[in-house]
Amino acid sequence: MQLYGVIGHPISHSLSPVLHNWAFKKFGYKDKVYIAWDITPKNLEKFLHNLDIFQVKGLSVTIPHKQNILSFAQKISPLAQKIQAANTLVYHKGIWLAENTDVYGFIQPLQQLNIKLQKALILGAGGASLAVIYGLKKLKIEEIYISNRTMSKARQLAKNLGLKEISWEDKEKLRPDILINTTPLGMSGKWQNKTPWNADLKGIKVVYDIIYNPNPTLLLKQAKKFNCTTISGLEMFIYQAQQQFKLFTGQTFSFYDALNYLNTNTFPRK
Ligand code: ATR
Repeated sequence: MQLYGVIGHPISHSLSPVLHNWAFKKFGYKDKVYIAWDITPKNLEKFLHNLDIFQVKGLSVTIPHKQNILSFAQKISPLAQKIQAANTLVYHKGIWLAENTDVYGFIQPLQQLNIKLQKALILGAGGASLAVIYGLKKLKIEEIYISNRTMSKARQLAKNLGLKEISWEDKEKLRPDILINTTPLGMSGKWQNKTPWNADLKGIKVVYDIIYNPNPTLLLKQAKKFNCTTISGLEMFIYQAQQQFKLFTGQTFSFYDALNYLNTNTFPRK
């Protein structure tokens, strides 16, 4: 038996086991199974140094390990190196490779839109904003603004990565072509009835919320009322897993089959 899994803390809400096990079954891998491991930062090193004993061949990596995982890998992809964060570890030809498939996951839904985007506004400057920033740069979006409750963090990112910053209080005055939420506001649990945007969304073409539970979030519901094109975090989630699964097995599952499976088997989630 070969083991795969997701490591993070907390991990109980992850959809990764459902999706990867569905895909293993779909491609007839009877010898592969995917598990959720709740690993605290304290236990990370111990866990990683025993992977060979358990025949672990691939890992999805989530909060709070995306940066720390890099020091474990024997090879780091140029993209993961650039972002200084990885969400995938795969055992290949005797070494562990760290890769970042979040950027691919973020970009993919946008590449399928036929909408010209020149000005973007990112809400939030935490770990999750990094893949978004690099994704927007890859898409050659010319003007990227970042806004964060704690202004100093946005300023730091703006300085290091060539973005513009706007204060949390003034952000609604900006009318970007695309607005992206990377904060937890709107996420199931204590944030569910919150939105990071306290104004109308007139003139904004695309609203992208990287949260996938609930689907849609309050922000995306607001956006639909203003006829914006909306993208949910579930799309990003499926695409990042699709590329990850390809690294694990060489196979590519269908985005729409996966979406259909998750919608009928896992939503609504508490
Ligand atoms: P990280 O991604 O670094 O783990 P996080 O706690 O998940 O951090 O928060 C992600 C982003 O959401 C951060 O930019 C955070 O803003 P701060 O830098 O001010 O902490 C933002 N965020 C979290 N809670 C928020 C809230 N209640 N209102 C506005 N922004 C919030």
